[in-house]
Amino acid sequence: MIQIHIQHSDPSVLPEWHPGSWRTRPIVQQPEYEDPALLEHCVDILRSKPPLVARGEVDRLRTILAEAVQGRRFVLHGGDCAERFSDCTSAALTAKLQVLLQMSLVLTYATRKPVIRIGRLAGQYAKPRSEPFERSGEIPLPVYRGDLVNSREPKPEARRADPRRIVEGYHHAAASLNFIRALIEGGFADLHHPEQWNLDFVKNGAYSQSYRGVVDAITDAIAFMETVGVADAAEQLKRIEFYTSHEALLLPYEEGLTRRTGQGEFYNLGAHFLWLGYRTCVPEGAHVEYLRGIRNPVGIKVGPGTKQEDLLEILHRLDPRREPGQVTLITRFGALNVESCLPPLIQTITKSGHPVLWSCDPMHANLEYTREGRKTRRLDAIFSELEQTFGLHNRMGTCLGGVHFELTGEAVTECVGGSGGLTESDLSQCYETACDPRLNGAQALEMAFLIADLLR
Ligand code: PEP
Ligand code: CO
Repeated sequence: MIQIHIQHSDPSVLPEWHPGSWRTRPIVQQPEYEDPALLEHCVDILRSKPPLVARGEVDRLRTILAEAVQGRRFVLHGGDCAERFSDCTSAALTAKLQVLLQMSLVLTYATRKPVIRIGRLAGQYAKPRSEPFERSGEIPLPVYRGDLVNSREPKPEARRADPRRIVEGYHHAAASLNFIRALIEGGFADLHHPEQWNLDFVKNGAYSQSYRGVVDAITDAIAFMETVGVADAAEQLKRIEFYTSHEALLLPYEEGLTRRTGQGEFYNLGAHFLWLGYRTCVPEGAHVEYLRGIRNPVGIKVGPGTKQEDLLEILHRLDPRREPGQVTLITRFGALNVESCLPPLIQTITKSGHPVLWSCDPMHANLEYTREGRKTRRLDAIFSELEQTFGLHNRMGTCLGGVHFELTGEAVTECVGGSGGLTESDLSQCYETACDPRLNGAQALEMAFLIADLLR
C-alpha cells in the first residue's frame, strides 16, 4: 500500500491574510482587464457600498450547518448555473423561490428535519470555463465568463472584460436579494398558504397528487398545533430562513465585498455562503488564499480529478479550527465514477478529523452532448449519482447532509427525462441557460420526491 505523508503548511505561519492577499498567489480563471486602474476604481466603489447580508446571518448559517453535520438538518442548495442580470425580474425570482420552497416542503415532510435553503442567486454571475477562447467563427472569440465579466453576445467588443460590470453585479444582487427578502417578510413563504408557491406544473404534472398529499398533511398538522395552542407556532410558520450563495470566482468582486468587524474578523458580506469551484481547487492558489481569511461557511467542489493530498491541504487552510459548519464538501463525481471515487475520499476525510458537511452535486459530472452538440443532463444519471451517494454514505457510517442542484422555476427544456418525458428532440423548445442545463420546475420537484423516498 502506498502511504502518503503530507507535510501541512502551518496556517499560523502562512503570511498574514488580508482581503487582497490573494493577489500575490498564482491565479486561474480570471479575465484580462485592459484598464487595471478602472478595475481598482470599481473595487473601491464596492468597498464603499453597504453590505448585502449581515454578519449575524452568516454566523447563524454556520451554526445551523453544524447541526446538519450531526444529521439534525438537511441542506437544499440550488439555483441557476449562471444568473444573468436580465434574470433579476420579479417573475424569475418568484419562480425560483417557489420551486425551492416546494422542494424543501417535500424534503421537510419526508425527513422530519428542518431544511436549510441556500439559493445560488443574488451574485452567481461569474463562470469558470474550460477554454479561454471559443472557436466557432473565423477568429477566436474570448469566452463568455458570466455577466459579472463580459456579455454573452458573440462579438469581440461584447466579450471584452468590463470592470464596471462588478458594480452593476452588486446592484443586481442587491435588487434580487431585496425582492426575495420582501417576499419572505411579506408572508410569501407562510406555510399556511403553500398554494402561493404553485407553479403551473404543480396543477397538472405527474407529481401533483403526491404534492397535494404533502401539503394537506402539513396543513392538518399546522391546524392541530394551533388548536392545541403550541406557543408561537403561527408566527414561526410565517417566515423562513433563506440564504444566498455563489462561487467565489472573480476575486476583485469578492475582495470589494469583504468587511472587517470591530473584533478584527473578516466576512464576505456579498453572500452568506461561498464555494470554491472544481477548477480553482489549488492549495497554493489565489482562490484558496482568499477563502481562508473569511468567516463565512464555505463549500469545496470535489470531483474525479481532485487529488486527496490537495484537498487535505485545502481543508487545513480553510478549516484550521476544525469547526463543524465551516466547510461543506460538495462531491460531484458523476454516476459512473461515484462508486470508485467516494469511498476512499470518505475514508481519508474521516481519518483527517475535519468535521465536514457532506453534500452531493449530481449535476456537474453528468453532462452530455446531444447529436446536435447541445449540452444536456439526464435525470436518470442525476438520480443515480444521488442514490449511490446516499447508499455509500450509509454504508460507511457518514451522513449525506445536503444536495446541490442547478434548477429554475421556469418551464425550460434543458435536461432530458423525468415523468414529463422530455427527450433530446424537445430540447430546442425552450433552451435558455447561459451556461449549463438546469432542471425545470417539474423536474426539480420530481427530484425532491425521489430524494424524499431515499431519506424516509
Ligand atoms: C458550478 O457549480 O456551476 C460549477 C461550475 O461547478 P464545478 O466547479 O463543480 O464544475
Ligand atoms: Co454549472
